[in-house]
Amino acid sequence: MGWEYKTVLMVGCTAGLGVAMAERMIEAGSFVIAVGRRKERLDAFLEKHGGDKVAVEQFDITDIEAVKGWAEGIVKAHPRLDCVVLNAGIQRPCNFARPEAIDVDLVRKEIDTNYTSYIALTAAFLPHLQALSRKGRGAALVAVSSGLALVPLPRCANYCATKAALHALVWSIRAQLRADEKSQGVKVIEVVPPAVQTELHELQEDMRAAGLANIGITIEEFMKDCWPGLENGDEEILIGPIRENFGTLEDGRRKAFARFVSTVPK
Ligand SMILES: NC(=O)c1ccc[n+]([C@@H]2O[C@H](COP(=O)([O-])OP(=O)(O)OC[C@H]3O[C@@H](n4cnc5c(N)ncnc54)[C@H](OP(=O)(O)O)[C@@H]3O)[C@@H](O)[C@H]2O)c1
Repeated sequence: MGWEYKTVLMVGCTAGLGVAMAERMIEAGSFVIAVGRRKERLDAFLEKHGGDKVAVEQFDITDIEAVKGWAEGIVKAHPRLDCVVLNAGIQRPCNFARPEAIDVDLVRKEIDTNYTSYIALTAAFLPHLQALSRKGRGAALVAVSSGLALVPLPRCANYCATKAALHALVWSIRAQLRADEKSQGVKVIEVVPPAVQTELHELQEDMRAAGLANIGITIEEFMKDCWPGLENGDEEILIGPIRENFGTLEDGRRKAFARFVSTVPK
């Protein structure tokens, strides 16, 4: 099948998985609009790849009120946009055995980054992607969740809950678009990574203290599974250990979901 999208918005493209996916997409011929908060990293990305292959957009996706206007500006500047990748994320510890240490502002930030912004961005970009679909053109919405959406890890309880919420949301968005004749050209893809060696862990003090800042598979190993999945047009891309350990975990839930979809009005 091959990677078919020509203009990709990569949200969370100053580090880790976002940069790796974006660079592979550039190699495959896509123009990438890289999004993140750290301007110096965005500038370096632009310098590395050049303005004919890349544009950069400094934006904080937790500014939820600003998302709609910002997205309209992106579509105006890049009308050929045909793929939106929602990849930004943060992870923080959250231990209810130490309730006094639970920082509700940080919990809210994690929810806004990993979940609420995904809803706002999806709602903001879908009209454009649906318009492509109505013209018979393909478009894609890609969301990066986590294996921790399927089985939670207690140390980062809220992170896992945001990812479980995102995972459930993606199932529903996909079913809703599929049931809508005018939206059927919009493919909804979920990438489900295991622990990967990125700043996600390096930025957490307790992980550094425990010597776990470098936990997980390498980014190259991640891409070895991720890229063929994206090229094949797979709707759910379970990476490495997640596929091996949890590949069939949701078979029963999938059947129950299919029954819901076929019997209950959208
Ligand atoms: N690494 C893992 O073990 C792992 C496992 C499963 C799932 N995931 C998921 O994979 C995705 C990518 O993670 P990663 O490992 O590549 O993490 P990372 O290296 O820490 O990169 C996170 C990216 O998200 C961006 N970001 C964070 N908050 C943002 C905000 N408010 N506005 C705009 N951009 C923001 C960061 O850019 P700025 O800081 O410049 O804004 C950065 O580009 C995340 O959704 C993560 O939850 C990662």
